[in-house]
Amino acid sequence: MARKRILSGMRPTGRLHLGNLHGALGNWVELQESGNYDCFYFVADWHAITSEYSSTECIKDNGVSMVIDWLAAGLDPVKSTLFVQSAVKEHAELFLLLSMITPLAWLQRNPTYKEMQAELTSKDLSTFGFLGYPVLQAADIIMYKAYGVPVGVDQLPHVELTREIARRFNFLYKDVFPVPEALLTSVPKLLGIDGRKMSKSYDNSIYLSDRGEELHRKISTMFTDPQRMRRKDPGNPDICNVYTFHGLYSSPGKVTEINAECRSAGIGCTDCKKMLAQNIDAAMQPIHERMDYYNNHITQIHDVINQGNVKATVIARQTMVEVREAVKI
Ligand code: TRP
Ligand code: SF4
Repeated sequence: MARKRILSGMRPTGRLHLGNLHGALGNWVELQESGNYDCFYFVADWHAITSEYSSTECIKDNGVSMVIDWLAAGLDPVKSTLFVQSAVKEHAELFLLLSMITPLAWLQRNPTYKEMQAELTSKDLSTFGFLGYPVLQAADIIMYKAYGVPVGVDQLPHVELTREIARRFNFLYKDVFPVPEALLTSVPKLLGIDGRKMSKSYDNSIYLSDRGEELHRKISTMFTDPQRMRRKDPGNPDICNVYTFHGLYSSPGKVTEINAECRSAGIGCTDCKKMLAQNIDAAMQPIHERMDYYNNHITQIHDVINQGNVKATVIARQTMVEVREAVKI
């Protein structure tokens, strides 16, 4: 029996952080390791251009460093197909055909579109390409006839739109596409070191690559329970981001102990953070080893990507034969 195919992508933003690791990326690795799925993961570099069109110089390198982080985190090119969107030109053709059948109103009412436009005021996002972002995403997904799309909640509207577009294609022409499901990841709410959402653009992230001194320094500046001003004040771990991280990186026994000791002012934040930094450093060691290896063997990264591109292209070509036949073009 053929394994169900799943597909997901990330825009190449450069180095990944622990928020990414405990969110999408960790889930990708788990799905791969479950052995139940045929996994396709790709670098959405064309999607990056929708918002970065005026400064595209980093997109290529960011894609390569992102793939290094993927492999470091445990994606295995023998088990999963890793590829780059722009290397598979068929995505552009399917995008074009889907754009013919996608009502403008579906795109204009997309909540992500409205939010991004409101948020990224420094960029002019009133472009055709940015409005069509979800159509390109739909092409990415249905090209591989994916059964499932592992994403975070923020991507739900896009997957929903993909489903509608797939159904519309099937209705207008021929039943070519399965309607994909979103595979939602429950993500622990990890904040950045300044207490805001961990994001590259806030400069508050702990990166997969952070280690040793650098890691200790960053963690030492983390926001804690804001009510705990002095060492002798009791703290409240429930509202402390350091404690949330302990939940992921320290043993259950230690976590219980920290909880009690924090509330009784038995432990100070400095020591609590030191422990956390040590535990993260230790947990990340295998990731850092793989990262060092690939950084010294960059040609292997290019090989992995090239092989993935070839595998993806084979499927994309087959799909496009069916699509052209269905559209009668
Ligand atoms: N929009 C996704 C993001 O910003 C990236 C993406 C592009 C994607 N195409 C996709 C995700 C297809 C899943 C499937 O994270
Ligand atoms: Fe947070 Fe630890 Fe300080 Fe408690 S002791 S407030 S859990 S950093």
